[in-house]
Amino acid sequence: MTDLDIRDAVPADILALHALIESAYRGEASRAGWTTEADLLDGQRTDPEELADIIAAEDQGLLVGWRGGAAIACVKYQRLTEGVGYFGMLSVGPALQSAGIGRRMVEAAEERLAARHGANRIRIHVFPQRDSLIAWYQRLGYALTGETAPFPYGDERFGLPRRDDLHFVILEKPLG
Ligand SMILES: CC(C)(COP(=O)(O)OP(=O)(O)OC[C@H]1O[C@@H](n2cnc3c(N)ncnc32)[C@H](O)[C@@H]1OP(=O)(O)O)[C@@H](O)C(=O)NCCC(=O)NCCS
Repeated sequence: MTDLDIRDAVPADILALHALIESAYRGEASRAGWTTEADLLDGQRTDPEELADIIAAEDQGLLVGWRGGAAIACVKYQRLTEGVGYFGMLSVGPALQSAGIGRRMVEAAEERLAARHGANRIRIHVFPQRDSLIAWYQRLGYALTGETAPFPYGDERFGLPRRDDLHFVILEKPLG
Protein backbone atom coordinates (compact mmCIF):
# COMPACT_ATOMS: atom_id res chain seq x y z
CA MET A 1 0.00 0.00 0.00
CA THR A 2 2.01 3.00 -1.18
CA ASP A 3 -0.57 5.41 -2.61
CA LEU A 4 -2.03 6.74 0.64
CA ASP A 5 -1.34 10.38 1.50
CA ILE A 6 -2.03 11.07 5.19
CA ARG A 7 -2.63 14.70 6.18
CA ASP A 8 -4.31 16.71 8.92
CA ALA A 9 -7.95 17.50 8.24
CA VAL A 10 -8.97 21.09 7.47
CA PRO A 11 -12.52 22.52 7.64
CA ALA A 12 -13.06 21.97 3.89
CA ASP A 13 -12.72 18.19 4.49
CA ILE A 14 -15.54 17.96 7.03
CA LEU A 15 -18.46 16.91 4.83
CA ALA A 16 -16.44 14.19 3.09
CA LEU A 17 -15.12 12.99 6.45
CA HIS A 18 -18.57 12.87 7.96
CA ALA A 19 -19.86 10.72 5.08
CA LEU A 20 -16.84 8.42 5.39
CA ILE A 21 -17.22 7.92 9.15
CA GLU A 22 -20.96 7.23 8.96
CA SER A 23 -20.45 4.75 6.11
CA ALA A 24 -17.83 2.84 8.09
CA TYR A 25 -19.66 2.70 11.42
CA ARG A 26 -23.39 2.63 10.89
CA GLY A 27 -26.19 1.30 8.75
CA GLU A 28 -26.29 -1.07 5.81
CA ALA A 29 -23.33 0.55 3.99
CA SER A 30 -21.06 -0.38 6.89
CA ARG A 31 -21.86 -4.10 6.55
CA ALA A 32 -19.70 -4.22 3.42
CA GLY A 33 -16.74 -3.92 5.79
CA TRP A 34 -15.51 -6.68 8.12
CA THR A 35 -16.44 -4.89 11.35
CA THR A 36 -19.15 -2.33 12.10
CA GLU A 37 -21.26 -0.95 14.93
CA ALA A 38 -24.49 -1.48 12.95
CA ASP A 39 -25.66 -4.30 15.25
CA LEU A 40 -25.11 -2.18 18.36
CA LEU A 41 -26.31 1.30 17.42
CA ASP A 42 -28.50 3.15 14.98
CA GLY A 43 -28.40 6.90 14.42
CA GLN A 44 -25.25 8.89 13.84
CA ARG A 45 -21.65 8.23 14.87
CA THR A 46 -20.76 11.92 14.74
CA ASP A 47 -21.81 15.15 13.05
CA PRO A 48 -20.08 18.01 11.20
CA GLU A 49 -20.15 20.19 14.34
CA GLU A 50 -18.19 17.65 16.38
CA LEU A 51 -15.66 17.24 13.55
CA ALA A 52 -15.20 21.02 13.37
CA ASP A 53 -14.60 21.11 17.14
CA ILE A 54 -11.96 18.37 16.87
CA ILE A 55 -10.13 20.16 14.06
CA ALA A 56 -10.15 23.45 15.99
CA ALA A 57 -8.97 21.99 19.31
CA GLU A 58 -5.39 22.33 20.57
CA ASP A 59 -5.28 18.85 22.07
CA GLN A 60 -6.99 16.92 19.25
CA GLY A 61 -6.96 16.48 15.51
CA LEU A 62 -8.04 14.28 12.63
CA LEU A 63 -5.69 12.57 10.24
CA VAL A 64 -7.13 11.83 6.82
CA GLY A 65 -5.92 9.22 4.33
CA TRP A 66 -6.31 10.43 0.76
CA ARG A 67 -6.10 8.42 -2.42
CA GLY A 68 -6.82 9.79 -5.86
CA GLY A 69 -8.53 12.88 -4.45
CA ALA A 70 -10.86 10.89 -2.18
CA ALA A 71 -10.83 10.77 1.61
CA ILE A 72 -10.79 6.99 2.18
CA ALA A 73 -9.65 6.77 5.82
CA CYS A 74 -9.44 8.85 8.97
CA VAL A 75 -8.57 8.70 12.65
CA LYS A 76 -9.07 11.14 15.51
CA TYR A 77 -6.10 11.61 17.86
CA GLN A 78 -6.17 13.30 21.24
CA ARG A 79 -3.87 14.11 24.14
CA LEU A 80 -5.48 12.82 27.34
CA THR A 81 -2.96 13.64 30.05
CA GLU A 82 0.82 13.96 30.34
CA GLY A 83 2.33 11.14 28.27
CA VAL A 84 -1.03 9.56 27.45
CA GLY A 85 -2.70 9.69 24.04
CA TYR A 86 -5.97 8.37 22.66
CA PHE A 87 -7.30 7.61 19.21
CA GLY A 88 -10.79 6.88 17.95
CA MET A 89 -13.16 7.40 15.03
CA LEU A 90 -10.86 5.10 13.07
CA SER A 91 -12.57 4.64 9.71
CA VAL A 92 -11.72 3.03 6.39
CA GLY A 93 -14.19 3.06 3.49
CA PRO A 94 -16.03 -0.29 3.69
CA ALA A 95 -15.08 -1.34 0.14
CA LEU A 96 -11.39 -0.68 0.83
CA GLN A 97 -10.95 -2.51 4.12
CA SER A 98 -8.65 -5.50 4.78
CA ALA A 99 -5.86 -4.06 2.65
CA GLY A 100 -3.67 -2.62 5.43
CA ILE A 101 -5.08 0.93 5.42
CA GLY A 102 -6.46 0.67 8.96
CA ARG A 103 -3.06 -0.41 10.26
CA ARG A 104 -1.41 2.52 8.47
CA MET A 105 -3.85 4.95 10.10
CA VAL A 106 -3.24 3.48 13.57
CA GLU A 107 0.51 3.84 13.07
CA ALA A 108 0.05 7.43 11.87
CA ALA A 109 -2.03 8.29 14.95
CA GLU A 110 0.57 6.73 17.25
CA GLU A 111 3.38 8.64 15.56
CA ARG A 112 1.48 11.90 15.74
CA LEU A 113 0.60 11.47 19.41
CA ALA A 114 4.22 10.71 20.26
CA ALA A 115 5.67 13.55 18.19
CA ARG A 116 3.17 16.31 18.95
CA HIS A 117 1.93 15.40 22.41
CA GLY A 118 4.79 13.40 23.89
CA ALA A 119 2.66 10.29 24.32
CA ASN A 120 4.43 7.20 25.59
CA ARG A 121 1.26 5.14 25.85
CA ILE A 122 -1.99 5.08 23.91
CA ARG A 123 -5.45 4.17 25.17
CA ILE A 124 -8.47 3.19 23.06
CA HIS A 125 -12.13 2.45 23.85
CA VAL A 126 -13.89 -0.51 22.20
CA PHE A 127 -17.26 -2.19 22.71
CA PRO A 128 -16.61 -5.61 24.30
CA GLN A 129 -19.02 -7.27 21.86
CA ARG A 130 -16.56 -6.58 19.03
CA ASP A 131 -14.34 -9.64 19.50
CA SER A 132 -12.69 -9.60 16.07
CA LEU A 133 -11.87 -5.88 16.37
CA ILE A 134 -10.36 -6.38 19.83
CA ALA A 135 -8.32 -9.30 18.45
CA TRP A 136 -7.01 -7.01 15.68
CA TYR A 137 -6.01 -4.31 18.17
CA GLN A 138 -4.27 -6.99 20.24
CA ARG A 139 -2.27 -7.99 17.15
CA LEU A 140 -1.31 -4.32 16.87
CA GLY A 141 0.09 -4.38 20.41
CA TYR A 142 -2.90 -3.20 22.48
CA ALA A 143 -3.84 -5.07 25.66
CA LEU A 144 -7.03 -5.04 27.69
CA THR A 145 -6.49 -3.04 30.88
CA GLY A 146 -9.49 -4.40 32.80
CA GLU A 147 -10.86 -0.85 32.94
CA THR A 148 -14.19 0.16 31.43
CA ALA A 149 -15.90 3.42 30.51
CA PRO A 150 -19.63 4.17 30.31
CA PHE A 151 -21.50 4.70 27.04
CA PRO A 152 -23.13 8.18 27.00
CA TYR A 153 -26.75 7.00 27.05
CA GLY A 154 -29.20 9.79 26.39
CA ASP A 155 -26.90 11.79 24.11
CA GLU A 156 -28.10 11.14 20.57
CA ARG A 157 -24.99 12.76 19.11
CA PHE A 158 -23.29 9.42 19.80
CA GLY A 159 -26.06 7.31 18.29
CA LEU A 160 -29.21 5.44 19.24
CA PRO A 161 -28.31 2.30 21.20
CA ARG A 162 -29.98 -0.95 20.17
CA ARG A 163 -29.35 -2.46 23.62
CA ASP A 164 -29.23 -1.18 27.18
CA ASP A 165 -25.90 -2.65 28.32
CA LEU A 166 -23.43 -0.77 26.15
CA HIS A 167 -20.12 0.24 27.66
CA PHE A 168 -16.51 0.34 26.53
CA VAL A 169 -13.50 -1.73 27.48
CA ILE A 170 -10.19 0.15 27.53
CA LEU A 171 -7.08 -1.16 25.80
CA GLU A 172 -3.62 0.31 26.11
CA LYS A 173 -0.30 0.10 24.29
CA PRO A 174 3.08 1.37 25.47
CA LEU A 175 4.97 3.11 22.68
CA GLY A 176 8.49 1.83 22.15
C1 LIG B 1 -11.44 -1.18 11.92
C2 LIG B 1 -11.04 -0.69 10.55
C3 LIG B 1 -10.55 0.73 10.64
C4 LIG B 1 -9.89 -1.57 10.02
O1 LIG B 1 -9.49 -1.07 8.76
P1 LIG B 1 -8.82 -2.06 7.67
O2 LIG B 1 -8.33 -1.20 6.55
O3 LIG B 1 -9.73 -3.17 7.36
O4 LIG B 1 -7.57 -2.59 8.52
P2 LIG B 1 -6.34 -3.51 8.01
O5 LIG B 1 -6.57 -3.89 6.59
O6 LIG B 1 -5.08 -2.83 8.38
O7 LIG B 1 -6.47 -4.77 8.96
C5 LIG B 1 -7.60 -5.59 8.87
C6 LIG B 1 -7.44 -6.75 9.83
O8 LIG B 1 -8.69 -7.39 9.97
C7 LIG B 1 -8.55 -8.77 9.72
N1 LIG B 1 -9.81 -9.21 9.17
C8 LIG B 1 -10.27 -9.03 7.93
N2 LIG B 1 -11.50 -9.57 7.80
C9 LIG B 1 -11.80 -10.11 8.99
C10 LIG B 1 -12.92 -10.82 9.50
N3 LIG B 1 -13.99 -11.09 8.73
N4 LIG B 1 -12.91 -11.21 10.79
C11 LIG B 1 -11.85 -10.95 11.57
N5 LIG B 1 -10.75 -10.28 11.16
C12 LIG B 1 -10.73 -9.86 9.88
C13 LIG B 1 -7.37 -8.86 8.78
O9 LIG B 1 -6.76 -10.14 8.84
C14 LIG B 1 -6.45 -7.79 9.32
O10 LIG B 1 -5.74 -8.21 10.45
P3 LIG B 1 -4.12 -8.42 10.35
O11 LIG B 1 -3.57 -7.12 9.86
O12 LIG B 1 -3.69 -8.74 11.76
O13 LIG B 1 -3.92 -9.55 9.39
C15 LIG B 1 -12.22 -0.79 9.54
O14 LIG B 1 -12.71 -2.11 9.55
C16 LIG B 1 -13.38 0.14 9.85
O15 LIG B 1 -13.40 1.29 9.41
N6 LIG B 1 -14.39 -0.36 10.61
C17 LIG B 1 -15.61 0.44 10.92
C18 LIG B 1 -15.31 1.50 11.98
C19 LIG B 1 -14.75 0.89 13.23
O16 LIG B 1 -15.28 -0.06 13.74
N7 LIG B 1 -13.65 1.49 13.75
C20 LIG B 1 -12.99 1.05 14.97
C21 LIG B 1 -13.78 1.44 16.15
S1 LIG B 1 -12.87 1.36 17.67
